[in-house]
Amino acid sequence: MINVVKLMGHYFISDNNLKENLKKIEVKVKDTKFSFYTDNGVFNKKGLDYGTRVLLENIILSNKKTFLDVGCGCGPIGIYIAKQSSNYTVDMIDINKKAVMLTSKSIKLNNLSNARVFISNIYENINLKYDMIITNPPIHAGKKIVYEIVEHAKEYLNENGELWIVIRKDQGAKSLMKDMNDIYNFEIIKRDNGFYILCAKTIVKI
Ligand SMILES: C[S@@+](CC[C@H](N)C(=O)[O-])C[C@H]1O[C@@H](n2cnc3c(N)ncnc32)[C@H](O)[C@@H]1O
Repeated sequence: MINVVKLMGHYFISDNNLKENLKKIEVKVKDTKFSFYTDNGVFNKKGLDYGTRVLLENIILSNKKTFLDVGCGCGPIGIYIAKQSSNYTVDMIDINKKAVMLTSKSIKLNNLSNARVFISNIYENINLKYDMIITNPPIHAGKKIVYEIVEHAKEYLNENGELWIVIRKDQGAKSLMKDMNDIYNFEIIKRDNGFYILCAKTIVKI
């Protein structure tokens, strides 16, 4: 019972009893201005997360075309990417129904025809492969979920695909990097105020 009560306040659990507090957040990352809706019961309800900002400021999209934002929350990562080029195609997924509903509203708000969002428990509803998977993983959902997102990403990446992650040093960055070594070649792209931005590529066995 205690666990259930504790879990209800977590942003990854859909909780229909929460009071509505819909807000429109306007942000600028590098030269891109965009807006997204937030509400109680979702991550980022106060605005753009600092780690997400650092990720977006350092991500290199260059020759990639298809993107998957895993655990999209209110959608800032996917919306930012979709705004960079109409040639990009962006899918966003989250387990939280409210997050998916807010992201859907925000896709319309930003007039994006190259982005879509749907419910998925990790990769459960994914049947495509992407050039890039990006995630600010749900640390509070537990290590098992975070590791599943990271470990199985390779099954949903095209050849030469990349997995980009933002993770805090004090939330397991070091141990995640140690375990990632067996699956990926990865680079630390940026360290900023305890946040690590990692870019991982699948190891090609010769
Ligand atoms: C740290 S938040 C990041 C939100 C957003 N990407 C951002 O950067 O602001 C992690 C998100 O993962 C979602 N999440 C938690 N468990 C999940 C699961 N099993 N499958 C998909 N998404 C999940 C949460 O609902 C939350 O929205």
